[in-house]
Amino acid sequence: MTMHTIRDKKTSVVAGGAGFVGSHLCDALLAKGHRVICVDSYLTGRAENIIALENHPHFRMIEADICNIQMIDEPVDQVFNLACAASPPHYQADPIHTMMTCVQGTANLLSIAAQHHASFVQASTSEIYGDPEEHPQREDYRGNVNCTGPRACYDEGKRAAEALCFDMFRSGKVDTRVARIFNTYGPRMRPDDGRIISNLLVQALKGEPLTIYGSGNQTRSFCYVKDLVTGLISLMEVQPNPGLPVNLGNPSEFTINELADLVLELTRSRSELVYKPLPMDDPQRRRPDIVRAQTLLEWEPTIPLEDGLRMAADWFALALRNDLPTRSRNGSSQVGSTVLQF
Ligand SMILES: NC(=O)c1ccc[n+]([C@@H]2O[C@H](COP(=O)([O-])OP(=O)(O)OC[C@H]3O[C@@H](n4cnc5c(N)ncnc54)[C@H](O)[C@@H]3O)[C@@H](O)[C@H]2O)c1
Repeated sequence: MTMHTIRDKKTSVVAGGAGFVGSHLCDALLAKGHRVICVDSYLTGRAENIIALENHPHFRMIEADICNIQMIDEPVDQVFNLACAASPPHYQADPIHTMMTCVQGTANLLSIAAQHHASFVQASTSEIYGDPEEHPQREDYRGNVNCTGPRACYDEGKRAAEALCFDMFRSGKVDTRVARIFNTYGPRMRPDDGRIISNLLVQALKGEPLTIYGSGNQTRSFCYVKDLVTGLISLMEVQPNPGLPVNLGNPSEFTINELADLVLELTRSRSELVYKPLPMDDPQRRRPDIVRAQTLLEWEPTIPLEDGLRMAADWFALALRNDLPTRSRNGSSQVGSTVLQF
């Protein structure tokens, strides 16, 4: 019997595990009895997100950039690749590094998965559909991405990462699975994250005007982080491998104006709405078709926006009181720091 099969615990690598989604995934995998190895550079993640895990006997932190990592020095069964700045201001702060994280970083992690015969889940994104011309977005829609615009480092990087994953799958080298994640929110988002839910909640809680970009009639579909994490784990475990990308998101669609009204109601804020021009290439409509996830994973979100927003608002209120937002491991925001040398 090999070392691999006699180990009593599955070992999961979570790249990006100090981030918003990744830290919840680490929690969920440890709760399932896995050993968890978190790989993170703290680019946008925060030590606070995983502080409760530091002394957990089955948790290990490796501080590294996935663009540089070559190996993991212990057996591994699963690799979840969530490492990538996800909000536009953060991924645009150093677009070359974002692209290289998606391509070189994903290639490195795929190679590690191949070395260990581990299964692999790639956190892809609804952004690969760009500003969609089809609605809702099904996985067979090929998207409408501006490949030279300011969002391309992320959108095209994630598309290239998907291509790498499917080539590794077709060539029989790695058991890869691809999740196309739609807007997700919840506790541990950075209040300075720049995404719509964190922006509106923080502004409402501080009594500042709520910034709406565009008319506010553009739509998004918001998934609570706990639902997403359940979907990511189901995708990793489902047999046989779907061999196809799977949308994970909440199909309930809201306009940004509706979201702002709900935020004001839940936080009892009297902030006003201020309208600003829409950023370039900002999508008008977003809603996942989740039939594939429902059929193959028997997964669908269970937490309505109102309940999830209340939990997120409670967390943001606490984070603002404790000044949690911008501290990374060394006490300063690292967003925009280039790791690769050209
Ligand atoms: N949250 C969403 O709404 C959403 C939607 C679609 C896709 N995703 C994807 O899910 C993943 C997690 O997103 P999130 O919202 O938790 O973002 P996040 O910024 O909170 O987490 C990303 C984590 O990856 C780390 N990281 C970034 N680049 C790295 C690198 N080169 N090497 C090592 N670590 C690195 C960051 O420090 C951070 O801890 C991302 O890949 C993102 O593209 C998220």
